[in-house]
Amino acid sequence: MKNIESNLKEKRTFKPSEKFVRQANLKNEDLATLLTKYNSEPDLFWKELANTELTWIKKFNTVCTGTSPFFKWFEDGTLNVSANCLDRHVETDKKNKIAIKHVSEENTITNITYNQLFSKVNSFSSGLKKLGLKKQDRVIIYMPTIPESITVMLSCARLGIIHSVVFAGFSSESLKDRINDCSAKVVVTVDSFKRGGKSIRAKDTVDKALDMGCPSIDHCIVYKNSSEKINFTKSRDIWWHDIADENGVIVAPEEMSAEDLLFILYTSGSTGKPKGIIHSSAGYLLNCLLTNKWVFDLKNDDIFWCTADIGWITGHSYVVYGPLALGATVLIYDGAPTYPGGDRFWKIIDENKVSVFYTAPTAIRTLMKLGDELPSKHKLDSLRLLGTVGEPINPEAWIWYHKNIGKENCPIVDTWWQTETGANMIAPLPGIYQVIPGTCTKPLPGIEVEVVDSEGNKVQNASQGGNLVIKKPWPSMLRGIWGDKDRYINTYWKKYDNKFYITGDTARKDEDGNIWIMGRSDDVVNVSGHRLGTMEIESAIVSHEFVAESAVVSYPHEIKGEAIHAFVVLRDNFKLHGEKQFADELREWVKIKIGSIAKPERISFSTNLPKTRSGKIMRRLLRNIARGEKISGDTSTLENENILNQLKDIF
Ligand code: WTA
Repeated sequence: MKNIESNLKEKRTFKPSEKFVRQANLKNEDLATLLTKYNSEPDLFWKELANTELTWIKKFNTVCTGTSPFFKWFEDGTLNVSANCLDRHVETDKKNKIAIKHVSEENTITNITYNQLFSKVNSFSSGLKKLGLKKQDRVIIYMPTIPESITVMLSCARLGIIHSVVFAGFSSESLKDRINDCSAKVVVTVDSFKRGGKSIRAKDTVDKALDMGCPSIDHCIVYKNSSEKINFTKSRDIWWHDIADENGVIVAPEEMSAEDLLFILYTSGSTGKPKGIIHSSAGYLLNCLLTNKWVFDLKNDDIFWCTADIGWITGHSYVVYGPLALGATVLIYDGAPTYPGGDRFWKIIDENKVSVFYTAPTAIRTLMKLGDELPSKHKLDSLRLLGTVGEPINPEAWIWYHKNIGKENCPIVDTWWQTETGANMIAPLPGIYQVIPGTCTKPLPGIEVEVVDSEGNKVQNASQGGNLVIKKPWPSMLRGIWGDKDRYINTYWKKYDNKFYITGDTARKDEDGNIWIMGRSDDVVNVSGHRLGTMEIESAIVSHEFVAESAVVSYPHEIKGEAIHAFVVLRDNFKLHGEKQFADELREWVKIKIGSIAKPERISFSTNLPKTRSGKIMRRLLRNIARGEKISGDTSTLENENILNQLKDIF
């Protein structure tokens, strides 16, 4: 990919200012102490951190136990995650500190203190309890990023109920599949919400999903978020305000085992079926909390704005659990980034004195394209640290971010991690590292990564890439895939005989030990920082009655990082009247099946696809075509050579 090529040549280095270094949570000497401790006694390293950072109900004795790939952390200890995010702060003078500052698309600002959030969570917990939900039952959250969706997450945590947030941009069909996969009993939603000035009728989507058949669902709880009228099925639907007691009710936090599941979060993999990544309680919380402290350098007076939606792991770890466990103030904004104008983000930063800002490269590239005048209208002098996540950042976007947003004054942390890792794994320590744009630098203390070849041997040549693996278990690692043990082993461990966790990313390690992420080694693509499986999109496309076959690949895109090209073969009896019109229809179809984020940028039609004699589609060749590259590698197994000529003419 073009970006990666230019990334590898990047040599400019940037170091933090003296002022930043002086105040940093982690200084050089702290890092040295941490590393010495980890290298001599890894269990003691984690034990001390878990003891000092988390509030336990019953102390643990064991640290990391189990046989690969099934690890347990602090297993004999008990705690409650919501008590770690709330109760322990309301007992201190943090009680009147703002926990959540919510900015709506219309710029209504709602400040919620720790005390107020504590009350909201207690009253909603009491409502959930009345519905008879038990420990480790599942609740689906289909809501935008508003204080109430965070309230539901923390209420589930309080009662030991497993939540699964489904991004509110997913279609009814995707929602139905996720509800059924984890047999959820309750779904919590809103009537509607605003995005880009338009009303998005979330409850209608939930109704459609439930109408398709979700036998496990007993109730749908609706938070009234607008004045829109919705359909209401009396036997099933419940208004939030009818079950959440507002009268200062206190619901004692459940005593949970460290290993009890906190949440399921669905993400894309190599097959057509999304996988429910499962996370535990204590280990997950520990890495979230530590990375908010170490990488985001969070302090008591910071205002931390992570722009991720709670539907993604970044929203879980850097909007909700990590910052709240630390007692920080988070800003949330549930509107569109460019509404009503292209400087909305910068305006929010100035008006609310945001000090730490974390977003995706795709957002940076989009806003960069709108011109330097937009950020230059704003002071942006409250900022002291910037972060990026989700995809490789090209040096051009990095430098723009550094100059125009950070005013050359803020370190940038390029954080590499995944839904599966729970928290940042490779990222700069902002008060210590000199960074080169394009590398996420080095693994954090306690994390051991390597770049290996297909045999599992360390790649020696620094200019060569290989598979990125994590060599040792870590507290916030996924505990598995909901209901699919085999898939967990096969996807993440089997190739190297359970020795390493396989990230699915390819990377290069330079002479200084910096990691440069190159891309995925599987059929996962990263469009605008959203992780999508090409197989999922293919199965959505082929489910259209006029489609016989489809293959989906990605190609580099200036703004989105990667974009989707769908190659489509139509059924014999279908005559195409207008290619463009049908391509648009297929895009709409994908939106209905999965959601807008999965719509292919390009769709091309042909009479066949390049296949091997055994009938396997040769996606490698399609990738070459979509990327405008010369056909590379062996084509001798190709059965229908002439199809390549037909496909080359598609542009
Ligand atoms: C990619 C998002 C380069 C990577 C937290 C990974 C990145 C996938 C970076 C996980 C980064 C994430 N540089 N690539 N800093 N961060 N990725 O599960 O391919 O939505 O495997 O988690 O995003 O995506 P996920």
